Amino acid sequence: MIAEAAEAQAREAVAALEGAFGPSPAAAMTGTAPGRCTLVGEHVDYADGLVLVCAIDLTVTVAVRPSADGHWHAVSAGRRVERDHPAAAGDIGDRLFAAALALRQRIDAAVPPLEMAVVASLPEAAGLSSSAALIVAAMISMLRREGRALGADDLAAAALHAERELVGVPCGPLDHRSVVSSLENAALLLDCRDGSLERVGWGLGGVVLVACDTGDAHDVGGAGYAERRRQAAEALRLLSAASYREVDAEWVEAALEGVLQRRARHIVTETERAGRAAAALRAGDETRLGELMTASGRSLRDDYEVGTPTLDAVVAAAVAHPGCLGARLVGAGFGGSAVAVVVEGAAAGCRRAMEAAAARVGEGRPRSWVLRPGPGVAVTAADVVR
Ligand code: GLA
Repeated sequence: MIAEAAEAQAREAVAALEGAFGPSPAAAMTGTAPGRCTLVGEHVDYADGLVLVCAIDLTVTVAVRPSADGHWHAVSAGRRVERDHPAAAGDIGDRLFAAALALRQRIDAAVPPLEMAVVASLPEAAGLSSSAALIVAAMISMLRREGRALGADDLAAAALHAERELVGVPCGPLDHRSVVSSLENAALLLDCRDGSLERVGWGLGGVVLVACDTGDAHDVGGAGYAERRRQAAEALRLLSAASYREVDAEWVEAALEGVLQRRARHIVTETERAGRAAAALRAGDETRLGELMTASGRSLRDDYEVGTPTLDAVVAAAVAHPGCLGARLVGAGFGGSAVAVVVEGAAAGCRRAMEAAAARVGEGRPRSWVLRPGPGVAVTAADVVR
């Protein structure tokens, strides 16, 4: 089913390419990558933390072919950009062109100027990692064109380089690792201290993940995210520790106060929760997983202060809905989506309740989905990801 949907989306992307730039004798190549949903472990990937995460069945497809005029072109959701050089310019071409530059720099790939088209079921700027998915999908399409292959870890590192160094977004490794390395019917426990990954079997039966995008765009490149990163680093310095993994909540209470105490408390307790959530998932204990997700959401709201009134209202509506076991904001926050773990029969009602809350409090156009944990590109693009 997932493969059929991917094929249909790939055909759509090729049609979008031809629609935007006309017919060409050059064959188009496509790449598809999924979004991700963090279960527990938000805002700790840049602080040596543990993250429990899965890829999801909402995806981005990029179609590419060599440019007819030597310029870089891209089209996505009705927006069109063109430039002489693939450098970032603050538009929808940035991540696509950065993918090409990163492959040139990291593996000396001879990627020429390209025409590119994007088609997605994954919503943009919704906290479900559309940025990393876009970069990875673009890289897959280019690797196919070049007849090159990359190891999973190298691909994730190249995608992170593209987003962080070339586009200039100060993100951590979470999104790129999960988009690349997630497995079907499993979550990943990502240890951001040493980069190791552990597969956690999806032991839950009869419950699903529901996500609701508030329609208020989040912005991981924005000031709030960068400020949280600075505060996390400053708190660690004041704790005189080499890593947050050496620190516990008591140490944080004793050594820090005010805002930095709250930020550090979130980081330390969130990593503990992620470890416990992995154990709950492995044991098939959906009630415990739900509780840990709700606790994570409270910590993000109160200690890390990345919630918004709309996200708070959506989470509250989900948690109050019969059959919902827990809910939290997902991704960087400051807008974007909330996710809930819900008894399957209650999913439709919970979606309606979450959307209604978002429409009541927010300004965007809310949308919701039942998310299924899906495979990353190391599985779906095994021809170019070793
Ligand atoms: C964004 C960033 C990630 C991570 C999350 C918060 O998605 O890209 O690196 O920091 O926010 O967990």
